[in-house]
Amino acid sequence: MRVAVINGPNLDMLGKREPEIYGNLTLDDLKDLLEDKARILNIEIEFFQSNFEGKLIEYIHTLRDKADGFLLNPAAFSHYSIALRDAVLAVGLPFVEVHISNIFKREEFRHKSYFSDIALGVISGLGFDGYVYALDWLVKVLRRGEN
Ligand code: DQA
Repeated sequence: MRVAVINGPNLDMLGKREPEIYGNLTLDDLKDLLEDKARILNIEIEFFQSNFEGKLIEYIHTLRDKADGFLLNPAAFSHYSIALRDAVLAVGLPFVEVHISNIFKREEFRHKSYFSDIALGVISGLGFDGYVYALDWLVKVLRRGEN
């Protein structure tokens, strides 16, 4: 089984960016954490981050042929990218939306996500652990063939 983990803009700045909100760990730390989890689950993961909407869209297009599902933190694109939403709909794969922070505790413009109604589920506010729980759950659902 193959699951992609996709992170949107500014998440390459984790560790430096607003540590009071996003913590001190880096994107590489997140990758290590998820690679450990993938080994335990006996699956393959592919990690992708971009600051560019078009690159994220083109990467999502490639998933059709190479992934069973994905985790997606669209970052700021969550709140306004219909193009990224359309790419996700075009590939039609099951996915979980993840946010490090609790977007509902923050500014009102972050409360709306263009992905939540098309995701299998959403995790927001559990920090990096949210990705680990999301991966665990997605693999369970894919293995049961429930999606
Ligand atoms: C985020 C929340 C978004 O509102 C923000 O623009 C991000 C990160 C999160 O993981 O908490 O860049 O998706």
